[in-house]
Amino acid sequence: MELLDGKKVSTEVLAEIAQEVVSLKQQGARAPHLVAVLVGTDGASETYVNSKVKHCGIVGFESTLLRYNEDITERELLDVVQRLNQDPNIDGFIVQLPLPKHIDERKITLAIAPEKDVDGFHPSNVGRLTLGLPTYVSATPLGIVEILKKYNIDTEGKNCVVVGRSNIVGTPIAILMTKNTNPGNATVTICHSKTKNLKEICATADILIVAMGKPEFIKADMVKPGAVVVDVGIHRIADDSKKSGFRLVGDVKFDEVAPKASFITPVPGGVGLMTICSLLLNTLKSAKKEIYS
Ligand code: GUN
Repeated sequence: MELLDGKKVSTEVLAEIAQEVVSLKQQGARAPHLVAVLVGTDGASETYVNSKVKHCGIVGFESTLLRYNEDITERELLDVVQRLNQDPNIDGFIVQLPLPKHIDERKITLAIAPEKDVDGFHPSNVGRLTLGLPTYVSATPLGIVEILKKYNIDTEGKNCVVVGRSNIVGTPIAILMTKNTNPGNATVTICHSKTKNLKEICATADILIVAMGKPEFIKADMVKPGAVVVDVGIHRIADDSKKSGFRLVGDVKFDEVAPKASFITPVPGGVGLMTICSLLLNTLKSAKKEIYS
């Protein structure tokens, strides 16, 4: 078994992005500029957004964090989005989710110009993904693709089972794995909460991608010997033996499954670390006008 090491791959991708920023600047362009909009003071959102901003600095991007109080109105936030859409000095921006209950997240997502939607959440970008057109792929699916690429995982003609059908992970990664690309060209099955014979279907997977949101659900008897296992889950489990009082686990029971797998992503240290790289890659693509020209 070999680990699909998100730490190693993300470090490599960050270095590649930093190198591209140097080249862009040498050609007289300004550094790519990402803006993050944060509403309220949710602890997890603060942590994510701070990490996104910090990583912009690491690769030489410009970044701006726009903070608004919890009581900002939907109209005011839509105005912020319009301003960012029109600002030629901003390549991409994200509005960190979740938003307060009085704001319709769908309305905000729809208001973001698809050309600046580096989260890849806008229906236009999801539609382009479905059609196989150049687009911003959302963070987790793009992170998975980058890891599979870096480890030269052969997906062509393989059985790929995706467990989970969310709009931002399960569905897009399943679509990507069907495309005539590398990675891609797999025969894909999507499983979800109503799937019968989940265990048997998972056991047919040469590539098993798990994004179901249930701690350590996938056990060794659900995995084919030699399978490539990608675990998207991340959960805190109480653990008195840890100073923090918890440990992190994925959707896969790692200790059981790892010896059976050919490759597996650990949690932490797997897919999660790739998501910020994805956001930066999308922002770089925007700066280089690679998606919409
Ligand atoms: N909240 C949790 N993950 C994300 C993400 O990738 N983008 C945005 N905008 N909000 C999030």
